[in-house]
Amino acid sequence: MQYKFSNFSEIDSNILFVWAHEGETDFSDLNLDVDIAKLATNEGFKGKVGQKFVVRALAKPASTVVLVGVGAAADLKAGSARKAGVLAIRTAKKLRASKIAISNLGGYESELVEGLELGNYHFDTHLTKEDDAFEGVVGVELLFPETTKIEHAKILADGINYARTLVNMPPNELYPESLAESARQIAKFGDLSCTIMEEKELEKKGFNLIMAVGKGSVNQPRLIHLVYKPEGAVNHVVGLVGKGVTFDTGGYNIKPGASMMNMHCDMGGSAAVLGAAKAIAGLRPENVEVHFIVPTAENAIANNAFKPNDIFRGYGGKTVEIHNTDAEGRLILADALAYAQEQGVETLIDLATLTGAAVVALGEHTTGLFSNDDDLVAKLQDAGVKSGEDLWRMPLTERLDAGLDTPFADMKNLGPRWGGAITAALFLKRWVNLDAWAHLDIAGPAFTESEDPLGPKGGTGHGVATLVRFVEGLSEEG
Ligand code: BES
Ligand code: ZN
Ligand code: ZN
Repeated sequence: MQYKFSNFSEIDSNILFVWAHEGETDFSDLNLDVDIAKLATNEGFKGKVGQKFVVRALAKPASTVVLVGVGAAADLKAGSARKAGVLAIRTAKKLRASKIAISNLGGYESELVEGLELGNYHFDTHLTKEDDAFEGVVGVELLFPETTKIEHAKILADGINYARTLVNMPPNELYPESLAESARQIAKFGDLSCTIMEEKELEKKGFNLIMAVGKGSVNQPRLIHLVYKPEGAVNHVVGLVGKGVTFDTGGYNIKPGASMMNMHCDMGGSAAVLGAAKAIAGLRPENVEVHFIVPTAENAIANNAFKPNDIFRGYGGKTVEIHNTDAEGRLILADALAYAQEQGVETLIDLATLTGAAVVALGEHTTGLFSNDDDLVAKLQDAGVKSGEDLWRMPLTERLDAGLDTPFADMKNLGPRWGGAITAALFLKRWVNLDAWAHLDIAGPAFTESEDPLGPKGGTGHGVATLVRFVEGLSEEG
């Protein structure tokens, strides 16, 4: 979409979108031929988030005016502004408008633009095209002061949409090698350094857990490592690690059919990390060096696939007895966390679609946040609020840690029946020697089974915005 600044008297668009606060019904400054407030109120429009009201066949300032509810002025948040932008673009597409104008919204113009870009996202590369004259929304007139910065919103939304596409790509096209190739492109265009380890090197160097998980697939594992270095001083070094299981059949502990469906979303953590890499490469924050690390494998079944009772020594030096081949995410992450700590990171954050238990505990829209550092938790939660992403802190209950013990190895990859999201986190903690580590279980929010307020069915790009804002927060610390 092309953006340009404009003003009310010069609108050259099919639709004008006006944001309506709950309980505020004065639209007289629009100078419409009709009493839009009265018409809207008659139809039950109150300005609540998610509500809209359309008036057509007007003479000015545009032939169609749409009121979009943004809730009470006092409650206006990044999240509601973003949702308003999404609703606007969805409405424009339904009404087949190619040019739209949007009014300003008290300091949340950047979030509105983010919403427009997120709402405009669609994944249709595998649909056979029908003849359709409508090309989508091509132009947006911003009725904002010309000083308003929208570049940040476009770059961030682009990172989120890229993460969505990685998740949405079918697993016959997106597998470790092609995911690595996509990361290489991000690095090339974003001026990041890029190292990709292939199976031979992984084997030689002792990434035995990544190799174990990926053994049973012809699509062999990769370890992706991109680095962003700022210009000037480096005052913070951050590691972001994302689970990249490009398809999780469960392995020999095979998933039942219904649970296996959509398991191409099991690289949602890696999508968030690479989406953040794309955005950070575009935004180029000062003071922070960021390592983006993705262990990626396909969890399949074959004569040589890993099995229950197998024992492997991880890259971090400890051994693991396999008790369930479906608890594979923590295995590839263990190797990647050990590798990340060799890169000199001070803060380490991993994201993973790790456990169904996290979804049981928190529902589909909330990330489970586990951490050994209160300050890091506060910063991540703050970044989440600014991003409209919901993170809830979960405990690293010490008493459950013994549930990972086995007489035959340093640990097993399966805990007791209850508290599955916690024991998965405790397993990861056994591979971390840093004081500032956080694990985000995004098994719920990474993927949506149906259209949601920010995007269509499929990958959500959840996590990208929080990671980017977290890094920007560190950058602002100096
Ligand atoms: N990829 C799954 C977790 C998952 C579940 C992601 C639902 C997205 C939606 C993970 O590898 C897995 O299978 N976890 C098991 C762990 C169990 C065997 C300890 C689970 O959650 O059942
Ligand atoms: Zn699994
Ligand atoms: Zn998995």
